[in-house]
Amino acid sequence: MSTMVDLVIRDALLVTPEASRPGAVAVDGGRIVAIGRSDAMPAARRVIDIGGRPLIPGALDVHTHVREPGFSHKETWATATAAAAVGGVTTIFDMPNTNPPTGNAAAVREKIAIAARQAHVDFGVYGYVGETNIGDLRSMADAGASAFKLFLGSDNPLVPCPNDGAVLDAMAQIRQTGLRCTVHAENTPILNWRGAQMKAAGRDDLSAHLAQHADIATVEAVQRIALFSEWTGCKIHIAHENCRHAVPVIAAAKRRGVDITAETCPHYLLLSMDDAEQAGGNALRVKPPVREAGHADALWAALLDGTIDMISTDHAPHPAQEKHRASIWETSPGFPGVETSMRLMLTEVAAGRLTLRHYVKLACEAPARAFGLWPRKGALVVGADADLVVLDLNHRETVRGGQFQSLGKVTPFEGRETIGRASQTFVRGTLVMDNGGLAGAPGVGRPLQRP
Ligand code: DOR
Ligand code: ZN
Repeated sequence: MSTMVDLVIRDALLVTPEASRPGAVAVDGGRIVAIGRSDAMPAARRVIDIGGRPLIPGALDVHTHVREPGFSHKETWATATAAAAVGGVTTIFDMPNTNPPTGNAAAVREKIAIAARQAHVDFGVYGYVGETNIGDLRSMADAGASAFKLFLGSDNPLVPCPNDGAVLDAMAQIRQTGLRCTVHAENTPILNWRGAQMKAAGRDDLSAHLAQHADIATVEAVQRIALFSEWTGCKIHIAHENCRHAVPVIAAAKRRGVDITAETCPHYLLLSMDDAEQAGGNALRVKPPVREAGHADALWAALLDGTIDMISTDHAPHPAQEKHRASIWETSPGFPGVETSMRLMLTEVAAGRLTLRHYVKLACEAPARAFGLWPRKGALVVGADADLVVLDLNHRETVRGGQFQSLGKVTPFEGRETIGRASQTFVRGTLVMDNGGLAGAPGVGRPLQRP
């Protein structure tokens, strides 16, 4: 018996964390309905032969700053999700430091509505955790927040850092929603004190930013939030892990059974302060900072041994004029990432630093599992959403920010040669990127269903 399905992608190399094997995938109604030999697929309205190229689940990036509402001169939902589609990312999670911040149920609903009109890929929305909205956390989850974001170490008045008493109360509430809380783990008083010292000393260069964000500031905050997680039972996720001294703290928490996951980003794995000049001086500013040479090796080791669970990007676009300022304190922190992450990591695969299967675990399976989405997302299995990415492992290209879909054009990876990229991206069976160009219409992307 054979019924007509929407799509078959045949002559693929199906790559999962467990295996790489030749085969094909059949898609109907946006879901994977069959996986097997290319000659055993049902008839389809559309058949794509990918000539033996790898086919992987679309990547998830659980840390992006889309900027709308409030900062559409930096990025929009259309441009951020176009960048994701080009980058082989089929699900993004958006951070709540917008204007208004995503701090109550109405703001969650409003952001989802703005996003749904524009999105090229699926999306989750983070709810902000503050001192004044602890009573709103449950209704934010009910309104569709996919996770929560706690800024420890923020000086952004839109999303202030709550005191530790409020954090404990909030975590008790979040525990009841079953959602995970992602944490920007830095100690605010240390940052404030050291920042004031640097400014008083007249220092305004990138090294002053690094000195402000001392290693101990993140080690302490990771330690504290792991303890709070253990105490309250609230699942946590350490955002943008960047410091070799925090790795053993995460490892120790995992060993004693704390439900803690962690991400790191390509800029912490591939850059150090030694790259500042090449990256455009102050343009390398990001919070937390890219540190001295020596941290990256420890982060790689932690990524490969599972202490760090996944790759994200902290995609944080800003206009060029905000990235090229004389004073570090006036320079906006962060840069776009969702468009280049897969290219940069595939380049490391080509160099033999990790296997493609391991990359699929770090970019697809692990984020989906941590945020309750697996195996609907991040898996090549029957029943999963047909979020699929075809890879061209031989594609060589130079990173050029000017060519980005993102409105953020300043990247510290400018000029870097990459090997390998996503050549086609499908979101629930719809082609959204083909050969590096956008293929789908805005509005294909949908909000994630509550895990
Ligand atoms: O570098 C950063 N940029 N760190 C943050 O925590 C926020 C982000 C942004 O929104 O630009
Ligand atoms: Zn961020």
